[in-house]
Amino acid sequence: MKDFDLTEISADDWDELKNPRPSESDFDRVVEEAISRRGFIGGVVAFGSGAAAMGTGTLLSTTSAEAMGHSRFAFSPIGIATDSTIHVPEGYSWSVVARWGDALTSDAEAFDPATGHTAANASKVFGENTDGMWLYNVDGHELIAVNNEYANRRTNLPYEGDAAGTPQSLDDVRLFQGIQGVTVVEVAADGNGQYKIVVDSPFNRRIDHNTPMEITGLAAGHDMMKTAADPNGTMSLGTMNNCGSGPTPWGTYLTCEENFNGYFGSTDENVELTAGMQRYGVGLDGWGYDYHKWDERFDISKNPNEPNRAGWVVEIDPSDPSSTPKKRTGLGRLKHENAAVAIAPSGHVVVYMGDDERGEYLYKYVSNGTYAPGKDTDNLLNDGTLYAAKFHWDGTGDWLPLTPESTGMDAVEILIHTRMAASAVEATTMDRPEWVQVNPIAAEGYAALTNNRNRGVKPNAGGDDTSVNGPNPRVANNFGQVVRWYPANDDHATSSFRWDLYVMAGNPATQEGAYKGSSNVNEGNMFNSPDGLMFDSAGLIWIQTDGNDDNEGEFEGQGNNQMLAGDPVSGEIRRFLTGPNGSEVTGLCWSTDRKTMFVGIQHPGASFPDGEGLPRSSVVAVWRDDGSLVG
Ligand code: FEO
Ligand code: CA
Ligand code: CA
Ligand code: CA
Repeated sequence: MKDFDLTEISADDWDELKNPRPSESDFDRVVEEAISRRGFIGGVVAFGSGAAAMGTGTLLSTTSAEAMGHSRFAFSPIGIATDSTIHVPEGYSWSVVARWGDALTSDAEAFDPATGHTAANASKVFGENTDGMWLYNVDGHELIAVNNEYANRRTNLPYEGDAAGTPQSLDDVRLFQGIQGVTVVEVAADGNGQYKIVVDSPFNRRIDHNTPMEITGLAAGHDMMKTAADPNGTMSLGTMNNCGSGPTPWGTYLTCEENFNGYFGSTDENVELTAGMQRYGVGLDGWGYDYHKWDERFDISKNPNEPNRAGWVVEIDPSDPSSTPKKRTGLGRLKHENAAVAIAPSGHVVVYMGDDERGEYLYKYVSNGTYAPGKDTDNLLNDGTLYAAKFHWDGTGDWLPLTPESTGMDAVEILIHTRMAASAVEATTMDRPEWVQVNPIAAEGYAALTNNRNRGVKPNAGGDDTSVNGPNPRVANNFGQVVRWYPANDDHATSSFRWDLYVMAGNPATQEGAYKGSSNVNEGNMFNSPDGLMFDSAGLIWIQTDGNDDNEGEFEGQGNNQMLAGDPVSGEIRRFLTGPNGSEVTGLCWSTDRKTMFVGIQHPGASFPDGEGLPRSSVVAVWRDDGSLVG
């Protein structure tokens, strides 16, 4: 097989190449049938926060919202771009805050534009492939906790020829391990008023694939969590493939382990791949990181339980650089995208989570304990119930509890093999749930369903049927959509909801029917593959994309990946930022004064942002030239 890099091929494509799914031979549905069941344009897509949004009577088109003078946007939308830099609206500016390889400490070696940096330097510099992030104000210090999702192998190990991107030594593996995980970095405005890294801040910290972390919750100490190096099953090394994230109301950072399976492989090709390994895509040869060839911990023929210690949500206290991160097994084991925390009126903690793989599920967790400011929070994410979402065609839905009674699995097995528990209760297979968010000013949740070309074509990794369903109504869905739900009684802890689709991405210029997109998509704001979602304090929803940026074929007119803002009430969506070609725009947070937004640019192409040398994933600042608020 060609030696792909993850910048050329999606994580799901890797999984399918390594673990081909069976084709569904009796598939006989067509998208028109699905759409007609719900009356797509007139019914599934509906705007109106908190409205009984299931009828045409509640629809409000973009143009009518504008005509009524209700636009809440402080910027004029921008066009697409296909170049290798960033564009923002007139009246806004941007600058680079932190790049892969930038020094966190003054004893770091300077970044080499041709070769990057050494493994020995990894703990002293900003990590690679920035993703989810959040800003914390700790006694006046502004700290950004930011995920470093994976390695861009050929960029990070720029050997000549076939060796490019392929570890040639344990030291090379240590480099990969050292540039991923999480960076906590203090930032402050420099003499020109632009945010930069505060070098040598005592808060600066790298958490990587070898950082000790405590395993907490019911799965801690279970036999399936024990390894030779950790016979108690309570301390693991590293947090893996940190994708999205979420802040808690108590000041911690939840970092979410997504495609952890790719780090594992086997030096024995006859090793047994258990059903659990297969469901999560753990296979013999990994995804080219080659950890298993140099670091025995990642060799499943020697350490078959090690993969069970990844795929979790990890809680980090950014205010304490000496704190031990905690893996919260109560939140289940899946390919976690991010974690959106809401506090129910009763004080119970609700965490919404997506499992980003084709045909996997949307989840929530409800704590048994309650949150109150000042009360101990250490057990809130350890002790509770997991649910998986079931969406019905009629616009209603239920959160199905994952319990021994409902699944036939024991309580720990439900946490370690959460996907199988959701399959057991026949939850709704989704079009790759990416970021989930909760509107801070209305009782509603949103999930980006990025795309799923297997929808209606083949089952998920567990063999579950993926025929079209209510919130996933398009066969071979290459554009994606954003689903929204309204919990009963405006209470995120309740187990029933109503739902609609906030937007269906599409291409009104080149496509037909539902593939044109919903009525709030037009030739001026079209995009594909919604991924990052974030609400600002005014209740606008920001949508970041991670899709096809060829600007060709069905994606013609959509340009580079981008960030748009949406009004949940009117449905209007405007393009705010375009990223450099080759990049994904992912991760968004704001300065304490809300005059600066921080945006992540992951795996840019060309030589962004330096103009020469290796491309460097970056966090950039965006602000208004008149100094007013940006969210
Ligand atoms: Fe790392 Fe699902 O994105
Ligand atoms: Ca993502
Ligand atoms: Ca994505
Ligand atoms: Ca990515």
